Amino acid sequence: MSQHQFFATCPRGLEALLVDELTACGAKNIQPTDGGVGFSGDMPMCYQANLQSRIATRILWQVGRGRYATEDDLYQAAYKLDWPQWFNVGSDFMVKVTGVKCPLKSLEFATLRIKDAVCDRFRQAVGSRPYIDTKEPDVRIHAYLAAEEYQFYLDTSGNALYQRGLRRASIEAPLRENLAAGILKLSGWQPGTPFLDPMCGSGTFLLEAAMIALNIAPGSGRTFGFEKLKNFDETAWSKLRQQAKSKIKPVTFQKIYGSDTDLRAVRIAKQNIEQAGLMEAVQLSKVDFTEVIPPHGEGVLVANPPYGVRIGEDEELAALYPKMGEALKRKFSGWNTYFLTTDMRLPKLMRLAPSKRTPLFNGPLECRLFEIKMVAGSNRKDAVKEG
Ligand SMILES: C[S@@+](CC[C@H](N)C(=O)[O-])C[C@H]1O[C@@H](n2cnc3c(N)ncnc32)[C@H](O)[C@@H]1O
Repeated sequence: MSQHQFFATCPRGLEALLVDELTACGAKNIQPTDGGVGFSGDMPMCYQANLQSRIATRILWQVGRGRYATEDDLYQAAYKLDWPQWFNVGSDFMVKVTGVKCPLKSLEFATLRIKDAVCDRFRQAVGSRPYIDTKEPDVRIHAYLAAEEYQFYLDTSGNALYQRGLRRASIEAPLRENLAAGILKLSGWQPGTPFLDPMCGSGTFLLEAAMIALNIAPGSGRTFGFEKLKNFDETAWSKLRQQAKSKIKPVTFQKIYGSDTDLRAVRIAKQNIEQAGLMEAVQLSKVDFTEVIPPHGEGVLVANPPYGVRIGEDEELAALYPKMGEALKRKFSGWNTYFLTTDMRLPKLMRLAPSKRTPLFNGPLECRLFEIKMVAGSNRKDAVKEG
């Protein structure tokens, strides 16, 4: 089968985990960079990566690259590509341009020129042009413009891969599913080990943990961009889907626990987990962090505390953190705990020293994942010094 070049994007900080996933999918020539991973493989491998990756945001198929200096160079480069070979004139499309050190004055104008080139190429080949749809297009074309080089991609994912195809109700500031899955991986949690999110919000960690524990491929309930491309190999795709489906375990309790102090959040988490058909795998309760009783002698605790965005919240949080630290020290020895936050004061205010601090990005927000291992006796002595 013919080999293609791909680029998978992901939240910054999770590139190494994405390398592992792509390797497991059979990708070749894997090259991580900031915010994504380049690789090569055949189309079924690309389907498999879309279906199985919990970390990737999108998987892009490279269809052209070269050097440019002006918008007109981009028009010529895009016009040269045989778009009608890749999608039908009846498929509507959009062009998304990303510039990194791009010398052009207006990325909007570059977008327009690339769109014109694609339409002109269709007109020349089939006598009419496809429509534009910037909301729910059949086909997405991505152009990456560096200082001197362009790359054109067809998006094989369609909607971003963190959209698992579950209709989800949300609270304020839910985490993206792929960031949550990456944090679970970074925590070293393995199915069978007790897992607790005591600030569960809409239940993102719980859902991702349940899907991992039950071997549910993250893309098993959704459609993908590659299904709209002309080279779509339906036989290969249904085989991969079938294989994935046959590995799903029956839904039983997985020692996954979630709680939140806000009853609305607990209700929303319940609704989301129920809609995914995973309620039996998870136990939910409405309880404040400071009152949580550990469900087992040891386990993994992961939480994403509220961010202090509104006025007055900063002080509220500064009051909450020491209480959280106290609760951990009193009750959670034997647990490995992880906190994702933008608030760098968290460990200090919890009066606990983290053994690891991993930089991650929640969208544009720079965060840390603090690892705090609650060993018996003084945590301060055992943990690595800050720095
Ligand atoms: C940033 S949100 C978590 C979002 C969640 N990870 C998601 O993806 O939906 C923070 C959550 O902490 C909860 N929370 C705030 N203070 C709490 C406390 N003292 N005990 C337990 N939960 C608390 C809030 O109700 C909110 O749902």
